[in-house]
Amino acid sequence: QKCGYPHFMLKEIHEQPEAVKNTLFEVSDIEEIVKKFPKFKRITFVACGTSYHASLVGKYLFEGLLGLPTDVMLASEFEFSEKAIDPESLVIFISQSGETADTLKALRIANKKAKTLTIVNVLGSTATREADYVIFTRAGPEIGVAATKTYISQLTCIYLLAACMGKNRELLDELQLIPDYMKTVLSFEDEIKEMAAKYKDAQDFFFIGRGFSYPTAMEGALKLKEITYIHGEGYAAGELKHGPLALIDDDVPVVAVVPPGKSHDRTLSNVEEVKARGARVIGLGSIDDHVLEYEASDMIKFPAQISELISPLIYVVPLQLLSYHISVQRGIDPDKPKNLAKCVTVE
Ligand code: M6R
Repeated sequence: QKCGYPHFMLKEIHEQPEAVKNTLFEVSDIEEIVKKFPKFKRITFVACGTSYHASLVGKYLFEGLLGLPTDVMLASEFEFSEKAIDPESLVIFISQSGETADTLKALRIANKKAKTLTIVNVLGSTATREADYVIFTRAGPEIGVAATKTYISQLTCIYLLAACMGKNRELLDELQLIPDYMKTVLSFEDEIKEMAAKYKDAQDFFFIGRGFSYPTAMEGALKLKEITYIHGEGYAAGELKHGPLALIDDDVPVVAVVPPGKSHDRTLSNVEEVKARGARVIGLGSIDDHVLEYEASDMIKFPAQISELISPLIYVVPLQLLSYHISVQRGIDPDKPKNLAKCVTVE
């Protein structure tokens, strides 16, 4: 049931504070799992699509907080690196459905070589029966083809896992604040809808960010492509001048993810570079970031307390809404994008 929402996707976007709240209850199960872990020297994440973007956040988290070398691999590319899987690794498979063919194939290869863990949203799915350890995202059923609340719940599980492995009480406390931050951001929906009307006719978008904001940029671009049919490219902000800057002009809006923190000033200088080439910039940053506000044509303002570390859990939400509203304004049904299926069971 859509419960009064015009589309499942919009309902699911608005269910995200609840999805995080429910997923946070997984902490005790995760603590039990972590107690059983042998000592791992390395982490390898394997996933597809949006679940791959959640894995990318995992890399910054596990390397940054735990100092554990972490790789992220696309499930469809995994077989080409299988020889490099270290028996002292933990291989983590992220999948909403637990049935994605590429992910299951990679899981079966990894099971022969190392300990495997899966983070899934569907109880009893194939991945849950085959991995050594299982963590459930408690997002509830997701009907829209575009992953929204399951992405946020995957991220929540990854943060919980990192916090439990690192015995990081402070991070566990900070995660409790996420549902309220999210509600604040969801209340900007009318503004984002107006923004969608201004940008809906663009043919190409760039999404840029550094560090924790890079996966957010990638996910923003994926959402745009799949439900609006507009070309969107997620790029590491520092890579722009190594090629794609040649594509930037006044026809190409740039969405810049610039939370306060380590990468802020350098991403801001990339914002200046694209602006100098005529791009309209949609800036995502802290409410008190007046420099970003000055540089951007439009700005989405977040509570100033949201640190770079937890920003992936919140900064992606307006990008989901932006794609949703562009999709609807272009006359597309965002719940059923062409050529795509909710669960991809072929390689
Ligand atoms: O069920 P999975 O998480 O394994 O699915 C992986 C991708 O097919 C999926 O995340 C896809 O990219 C999303 N539906 C995009 O919104």
